[in-house]
Amino acid sequence: MAHLTTNTISEAVKSAGRDKATNPRLQQCVNRLVDALHGLIQELKPTEAEMIKTVEFFTELGRKDQIQILADVLGLSALVDLLNYPKVGRATPTDVEGPYYREDAPFRKSPVKLYEGDEDHPLFIKGRITNHEGVPLPGAVLDVWQTNGRGLYEHQDPTQPQYNFRRRFATDAQGNYEFQTVQPGPYQLPHGGALGIFLAQLGRHLWRSAHIHVKISKDGYAPLTTQLFFRGDPYLDSDAVFSVKEELILNPIRIEDPARLRERGLDRPYSEAEFNFGLWPKELGQPAYRLAASPADLSKKQEGITVTRLYTGPDGESHFQDMDTPLTSKQTIGRLSEPIRATSIIFRETDGDYDYGWHHAPRRQYIINLEGEVEITVGDGTTRRFGTGDVILAEDQTGRGHISRAMNKRPRKSIFVTLD
Ligand code: BEZ
Ligand code: FE
Repeated sequence: MAHLTTNTISEAVKSAGRDKATNPRLQQCVNRLVDALHGLIQELKPTEAEMIKTVEFFTELGRKDQIQILADVLGLSALVDLLNYPKVGRATPTDVEGPYYREDAPFRKSPVKLYEGDEDHPLFIKGRITNHEGVPLPGAVLDVWQTNGRGLYEHQDPTQPQYNFRRRFATDAQGNYEFQTVQPGPYQLPHGGALGIFLAQLGRHLWRSAHIHVKISKDGYAPLTTQLFFRGDPYLDSDAVFSVKEELILNPIRIEDPARLRERGLDRPYSEAEFNFGLWPKELGQPAYRLAASPADLSKKQEGITVTRLYTGPDGESHFQDMDTPLTSKQTIGRLSEPIRATSIIFRETDGDYDYGWHHAPRRQYIINLEGEVEITVGDGTTRRFGTGDVILAEDQTGRGHISRAMNKRPRKSIFVTLD
């Protein structure tokens, strides 16, 4: 351990305990974290005072239970969500849960009202819950929570009763649901203290676009956690936690027709919005490009078609990521993925002496290998071989890129499918 230098310390940290490690996934993650953090320190050369300030920052956030919020404002939660749950078929896009869910919200039968007492402008949200192919799902349970019209969650506001704007309820025999609420106000993340000072110095505001959180559960279906937003909200394009998705934006309409007010037993205008949710059957696997869980997992046979993504990490280096492309049954013509828009197809042959040093992808493109093998090395030191039938999605358009070379001095045939 003696005589460590700036060049050897990272390897020393990564190899400490290596022989006795019991959790390969944790080890893989921590090694990459050490590489990334050591790389940052080498590049930014923080002073000791900056190091102490950084530790104090994390300590304060930890004490105030705000580490989750830090992950949210840095876009980490949104990125994990985007990687794990892209939209598939009619399945509703997921979204981050945020820190303010409470279990055991009161369960209500129809008609469902999310709050106690009276509020100025009621909003009715209704729709249907179906599976990914549009088949209605009776008995699906919605668990909904939101702020009141002034942007305050019940647990932050002594004027609201316990569990106000938090309710659970189920779809009827046709898979329909409806609840009465109010349009939530935009909400500001905690702005006193270290987190507020940190974001202010970055020129960032702390407003979340007004939203309603929804969790839906139904036996046999992947639980869905998502949020609903409102067209016209001033923070749709600058949500502090980067979680707004176009497909999740509601378009409420104002109802003033006296006959319709009477039908609802109301003496003042109200608004109405419709949103249909689609759930993904568990038996079809995760509706997502799955992050590789562990080397053991990687060796398991994957359902669907595996595409290996080459992407640039925050460290400016290229990395591999194996993604499972889900296929859905289309009876006679087999199982199909969702269509992927492409711009051209280029057939390609490379010679047996092909050896292309560090370079990045010229554009986003699939590379479908037809014949022969290629060996690709990326900046984190990993080298992998791809042969007949392997599919690569090259997206590392920035950073150092990767090295590609022919294997066994043999020519190779492949196809580029360009995406943009
Ligand atoms: C929220 O949904 O209210 C929330 C999400 C992320 C961080 C803080 C709050
Ligand atoms: Fe929220």
